[in-house]
Amino acid sequence: MSYTKLELQPLFDKIDELKPAFIERLSKAVAIPSVSGDESLRPKVVDMAHFLVKELTSLGFEDIQVKELGIQPPPVENPKLELPPVVLARLGNDKSKKTVLVYGHYDVQPALKEDGWATDPFTLVHDSVKDILFGRGSTDDKGPVMGWLNVVEAHNELKWELPVNLVCCFEGMEESGSVGLDKLIAQEAEAYFKGVDTVCISDNYWLGTTKPVLTYGLRGCNYYQVSIKGPGADLHSGIFGGIIAEPMTDLIKVLSQLVDGQGRILIPGIAEMIAPLTDKENALYDDIDFSVEELNAASGSKTSLYSEKQDILKHRWRYPSLSVHGIEGAFSGGGAKTVIPSKVIGKFSIRTVPDIESNKLDELVIDFVNKKFAELNSPNVIKAELIHDGAYWVSNPFNDAFTAAAKATEDVWGVKPDFTREGGSIPITVTFEQSLGTDVLLLPMGRGDDGAHSINEKLDVSNYINGCKTLGGYLHYYGRG
Ligand code: BES
Ligand code: MN
Ligand code: MN
Repeated sequence: MSYTKLELQPLFDKIDELKPAFIERLSKAVAIPSVSGDESLRPKVVDMAHFLVKELTSLGFEDIQVKELGIQPPPVENPKLELPPVVLARLGNDKSKKTVLVYGHYDVQPALKEDGWATDPFTLVHDSVKDILFGRGSTDDKGPVMGWLNVVEAHNELKWELPVNLVCCFEGMEESGSVGLDKLIAQEAEAYFKGVDTVCISDNYWLGTTKPVLTYGLRGCNYYQVSIKGPGADLHSGIFGGIIAEPMTDLIKVLSQLVDGQGRILIPGIAEMIAPLTDKENALYDDIDFSVEELNAASGSKTSLYSEKQDILKHRWRYPSLSVHGIEGAFSGGGAKTVIPSKVIGKFSIRTVPDIESNKLDELVIDFVNKKFAELNSPNVIKAELIHDGAYWVSNPFNDAFTAAAKATEDVWGVKPDFTREGGSIPITVTFEQSLGTDVLLLPMGRGDDGAHSINEKLDVSNYINGCKTLGGYLHYYGRG
């Protein structure tokens, strides 16, 4: 497909010129440890919201609103913990223009230097030899969120009007299940979000490291915890070992029966809910640029369960997976502490796909866990529960938004993007689609090896800067298309 190119060179040149300011903006954002999953850092998440308000204000955004979402529902340590606010802002309200809602999240995953980071995770470090920016949130999702602000700054500097009305919705709980946002979107559908024509989310990644993509699918995520409680306090294993039932032993027995070493989920009833693979879908995987080598490079290992790209992609995109994440309350330090932990909480999640029914899944999972625990005949007490869930999403990539984004991508990167799905989850995607009745486009900035959630998370400077051009170009093609 060929298309008429828009004259976007001045915008692209301005974005290049503003590179130092854009890196500075991202540095300030990364310096705020807005970890939503760590209750003690909640004030920092709130600081990050206020940082955004400050930036949005100085860029000339209008009608900036900080929407409080109330108290965080259980399970939480602090029963009075306030949810971080959602930041709404608007630029332009011209009836003759289309309106694009951009969503991003300003919270990040936890990160500690001790986890193995080469540099302090909350200091953006520019490796000028490799031209890479390292820091927590650089790619997930502070880089892309700053990207939207950068696009506006470039327009302001050029004294260009934005080609669309822009509505921003930035949340601070995405990494913890987007608690409270569904309700806000439903409330604002006919208010703040009235007139929105399309939604663009930049919170995902290229599949590999060289070819841009546009994304039309995500897996969902149902996150569970199993707590097992025994003695009244942590105990000495020399005094109590062998004569009381240990919660940790029970928990490990239960967790070990959820999934096998080949990644097969062992809970009955889930496989039957997966949508069958049609010949048409099966053929799509052949044309995607990917290889087991790219997977190995991204994982930093040779631990792939599959050698064929088709199998890897299917298992990342269209089959469910179960991961065991951790055990709260377990001894995890160095040394050899002879403790019997009194209460342990196992955490695991299932990535969901069409046509798994979320409630049915919860029932299957929780019943299975309880049944396996009952088989142990343990006097300890178990509680298995859902912490949060987020739906999967698959859309049709042949609409105006995808077409506009494909043109912008080709302008900036010189190649046509691949159309991909993702294995990760952005719970709010389906809510936008359903509550606003619009399409959603996922337009990534970073690369497949950026290490979101991992140590040494990074964003290549070229992806940051060209990513800004792509976001800006998309607004122009969409707005004028
Ligand atoms: N940016 C990710 C979503 C994502 C992950 C997109 C991988 C593409 C590939 C997002 O910030 C994220 O991490 N989401 C969580 C959601 C969960 C807490 C419900 C996730 O996928 O673990
Ligand atoms: Mn993200
Ligand atoms: Mn994330």
